Amino acid sequence: MDKPTKMEIIRTPATIQQRALALKREGRVIGFVPTMGFLHAGHVSLMRLARTRCDVLAVSIFVNPTQFGPNEDLEAYPRDFAQDEILCAQAGVDLLFYPESGTMYAADASVWVDEASLSTVLCGASRIGHFRGVCTVVAKLFNLVLPDLAVFGEKDAQQLRIIERMVRDLNFPVEILRGAIVREADGLAMSSRNKYLASLQRKDALCLRRSLDCAVHLFATGERDAGVLRQAMVEIIGQIPSARIDYIEIVDDMTLASVERIERTALVALAVKIGSTRLIDNDVLRA
Ligand code: PAF
Repeated sequence: MDKPTKMEIIRTPATIQQRALALKREGRVIGFVPTMGFLHAGHVSLMRLARTRCDVLAVSIFVNPTQFGPNEDLEAYPRDFAQDEILCAQAGVDLLFYPESGTMYAADASVWVDEASLSTVLCGASRIGHFRGVCTVVAKLFNLVLPDLAVFGEKDAQQLRIIERMVRDLNFPVEILRGAIVREADGLAMSSRNKYLASLQRKDALCLRRSLDCAVHLFATGERDAGVLRQAMVEIIGQIPSARIDYIEIVDDMTLASVERIERTALVALAVKIGSTRLIDNDVLRA
């Protein structure tokens, strides 16, 4: 672990914005990692990546209500601020923005950031309004933290591409860095939602990575028919009774449009429910 630094915890949007403006006036480079807390080694790796490129490392912890649907896990979403605070201090975070409840959105907030193309597929197809909530809160956080660069994890591959598109289309002066997926020793992608898994389900959850490995292997041995890869993945997940496929898709890495033959770099992405826990994972097939 890195040497702990003196970390400031900031609880209101106005305070973080004033602090960021002062730092910018001093010419400091601000790196930013937005999170919803319940931090794990995946988040820490994003912080370490940001740390290599900035003078001031800012992290936000905010379980953003606008990106949860009515039947999703907003209330149950795991929270542990005391542990998060320790991890952030150990990772060398300078500013920890942890907004007090009710301070992020005006009661009559009516302006949204809506990405209209990449958001319509994959997770966006089953989580209506999710990416509108993500884009809106990330735009707000960028306006508060004023980062020069921000790091997003590749586990949320669609979110990452949508944020890159938002930054491009709305001219945010923020460089987006991609942080590699961090996995448990057995291959399960780290996620705050892994906490929901009972021990047998935890084993079942390995079917996501297993199915990706199969697709990667087929691709490496020359298979270019996306349908064949997809079917092999469906069969692997189908062997696990607790698993219910939300989607398994092979899409163009840039446009996220479904592909039949893999002729350009493709993203293979899946969302699977293990019991009631929805997990996502992905890999990139480089043509
Ligand atoms: O990836 C997440 O944790 C969230 O979607 C984000 C980017 C912090 C926005 O709430």
